[in-house]
Amino acid sequence: MQKSGALVVACGGGKGGVGKSLVAANLGIALARLGMRTVLVDGDLGAANLHTMFGIDQPGATLGALIDKRAANLEEVSIPTGEPRLFLVPGTGAVVGAANLGHAQKTKLIGHIRRIDAEVIVVDVGAGTSFNTLDLFDVADVRYVVASPQLTSLQNAYGFTKGAVYRALRAAAHDEAERELLTGSTDRTETERVGHTLARVDLQDAQLAERMRRILGGFGGAIVGNQLENAGQRNVLFGLSRMARDFLGITLPVVAELPFDQGIHQSVTVRKPYLLLRPVGPVAQAFGRLAEHVVSTNLSALRDARALTETPVPVTVKDDEFGGEFAAYLRRDARHAVTWPATLHGPSGAAPVRVVDVSLSGVLVATPVVSVQGDRVELRIQGHPEAFRAIVRHARPGYLGLEFTEPQEALLRQAAESHGPGNNTGPSAHSNGR
Ligand SMILES: Nc1ncnc2c1ncn2[C@@H]1O[C@H](COP(=O)(O)OP(=O)(O)OP(=O)(O)O)[C@@H](O)[C@H]1O
Ligand SMILES: [Mg+2]
Repeated sequence: MQKSGALVVACGGGKGGVGKSLVAANLGIALARLGMRTVLVDGDLGAANLHTMFGIDQPGATLGALIDKRAANLEEVSIPTGEPRLFLVPGTGAVVGAANLGHAQKTKLIGHIRRIDAEVIVVDVGAGTSFNTLDLFDVADVRYVVASPQLTSLQNAYGFTKGAVYRALRAAAHDEAERELLTGSTDRTETERVGHTLARVDLQDAQLAERMRRILGGFGGAIVGNQLENAGQRNVLFGLSRMARDFLGITLPVVAELPFDQGIHQSVTVRKPYLLLRPVGPVAQAFGRLAEHVVSTNLSALRDARALTETPVPVTVKDDEFGGEFAAYLRRDARHAVTWPATLHGPSGAAPVRVVDVSLSGVLVATPVVSVQGDRVELRIQGHPEAFRAIVRHARPGYLGLEFTEPQEALLRQAAESHGPGNNTGPSAHSNGR
């Protein structure tokens, strides 16, 4: 890791107050506890506050010292945090106009961040989708999009991720002709799938398409869910992940699900990071796993892709482009394909069916039997002790869409686990203790 420079992690995600700084601070501690020499960089150029989270009132020098040429490098600016192996480069609230650095200043700053002598650098990029914020996000090898389950946060997270993806894709164009080929689609504000753009570009410029594919493949993004109040809220995070896959063509897995915790809230009030107050427990474990995710990064694969996007290109993205559709898309449950024999008991008697698709709220069954929307039915899945009550919501030739009268989390889990050859004959093989 030392040879190729520090691994750079960014915490971004658009919306203010979702917990970017909190995640950055505690992730920093978790990384240091894994033995990594870690430096936290407060890149929130508008309202730096990481130092406050560590109980530091007035940091001597800050990132701004570099901009004002009062410091020659960021090692001069970094201060200990109280956690062994963890240092902090405080942010610069004081420098007027710091949030609107010129291009040369930004390039210099980014160069200095990359050159920090450490094993891992964690950058808190601040809120918004401004050029600055995306610039800092772009520096990172691992890019965490911090999101809470609230719709506005998810919208911001999507807009932010889209900004970062489009920015990277545009940098893939090497000349005016290529840029034009791309711009045809990436300038449109309506919903367009990157996959469609890629298919179109592929027909005209296979090399550009290949570069785009590598950039998308090496995007290195992941979702850090924060402030989760119940298990059901996880689903919208997975919804965000699917949107990124379907519309932006990137893998954006959910790598952490951090609970809303009064103790976390208090840690900010008492100005001591949560993991310093509570080094063990479920929250500490969650941050430990996130730190493991960081250190398991295949750095060289990501750097290959990143080398293709050295020239940053400004883009603006509207947060609200999806309108109501966005919420509907997120609510759409994760679905799992299965082949489970079952019997459907309806108003006109019982009929054998095959369950082909399971979600939290319902199933799709293949059946020659015709039913009517609104019919109340009971589904008995072979080998399953329970009968599921449902309502017929959709009927098309050969298939019925059934909505459960209540969400069936255990069944969804069984469906998710029954992927793979030989496991698909029925949920009984994975009864999960039921
Ligand atoms: N998991 C959590 N449980 C409880 N409270 C939380 C949690 N995460 C964040 N908070 C609360 O939300 C506040 C905002 O968190 P934080 O400052 O990390 O957000 P941010 O995304 O960095 O905001 P900004 O964009 O303004 O920099 C914290 O002060 C804390 O009180
Ligand atoms: Mg912050």
